Amino acid sequence: MTPDYLHYPREQLAQSVLHMLTAGLSSALTLFAPRRMGKTEFLVKDLLPLAESNGWRVFYFSFMEDDAGEIAKAFPAALADFAQSGRWIAKTVSKIAGRVKIKGTFGPASVEAMQGPAAATATPTVSGTIATLAQQKRPVLLLLDEIQELARKPGTAGLVASLRTGLDLHKDQVKVIFTGSSQAGLRAMFGDAKAPFFHFATMIDFPPLDEGFTRHLADVFKQITRHELSEAELWEAFQQLGRVPLHIRAMVEELVLNPGRTLAEALPGRLAMLADTSGYERQWQELTALDRLLLHAIASGESRPYGQECRARLAEALGVETLSTSNMQAVLRKLERRDVATKDASGWRFSDPNFAEWLKTQE
Ligand SMILES: Nc1ncnc2c1ncn2[C@@H]1O[C@H](COP(=O)(O)OP(=O)(O)OP(=O)(O)O)[C@@H](O)[C@H]1O
Ligand SMILES: [Mg+2]
Repeated sequence: MTPDYLHYPREQLAQSVLHMLTAGLSSALTLFAPRRMGKTEFLVKDLLPLAESNGWRVFYFSFMEDDAGEIAKAFPAALADFAQSGRWIAKTVSKIAGRVKIKGTFGPASVEAMQGPAAATATPTVSGTIATLAQQKRPVLLLLDEIQELARKPGTAGLVASLRTGLDLHKDQVKVIFTGSSQAGLRAMFGDAKAPFFHFATMIDFPPLDEGFTRHLADVFKQITRHELSEAELWEAFQQLGRVPLHIRAMVEELVLNPGRTLAEALPGRLAMLADTSGYERQWQELTALDRLLLHAIASGESRPYGQECRARLAEALGVETLSTSNMQAVLRKLERRDVATKDASGWRFSDPNFAEWLKTQE
């Protein structure tokens, strides 16, 4: 398998996440970031190898890939298989494994392969399997990717409760890291007082990639093509692409194939492609005047749009006397339900950073 040269290692982040677990600060963490910001890549390529080299047994599972609607069976079976066998990696990883550096016995197994023997004997419950894992010598780390999907799927209530019970009883030996890309979905899982996972995990905002990432891409580009790529221009382009690593990476790959082409030539095409494949125009048409004003404010960096000053400005633009905090909150809640806007520790922003960038280009 070829190594992934473009992968920018995030070792420091992996170290601090792992440290939170080993120092006993927390036994369950949730990393939140919008789609395509590099959560899965971080779990699989940074955290997993680091944890393994520190003596953990690590299990990865993505709840996003549920072709057959069989999560309620597939997850307990995958976990039981992991408890039996040592190392297990769910089928999602096999899709990106082309770029993952495979070492030792770490490698893709297919769900089909595992369903044979597992189907013959009854699969133990998730809490039962966690109890088994807790008795084994090495500490165990479960990486559960896109966990909010579990709350959205029908027929998973028993599974969710069992997972919660198992993790609660064995938190000293079995740690868990969840990731999520929808605030509304995560709230259904962790923020609802009636839900079993209410306040169970410490929520951390997954930081976006920094200038080190674009510097790394420029270095690798130079090594491969012997052409220069300006670090400053690449960082600027990354920001215009909403700091979504997927897009800048695709652009660098495009330039590797055509090293004669410049960044300035490639960028407009990439921005245009994003805009019309994502249906921003259509989404925009469905919004009210106040929704739009509010989104303009957020796109231009306003993270607390319900503040006095911002409300007065929007009221004036809208031609009304005043806008109350509750007016604003109702709109924000609606935008959140539709997954247009989302809130984190630093305030409100777009769920899809490219939507914000698109908006800035519309005048
Ligand atoms: N550290 C990194 N170095 C290089 N490329 C990266 C890095 N992190 C992410 N990428 C690129 O961004 C793409 C998207 O990352 P990833 O799939 O991990 O995002 P995600 O947050 O898990 O998204 P989703 O919510 O869609 O699952 C990757 O396929 C890869 O091309
Ligand atoms: Mg992912």
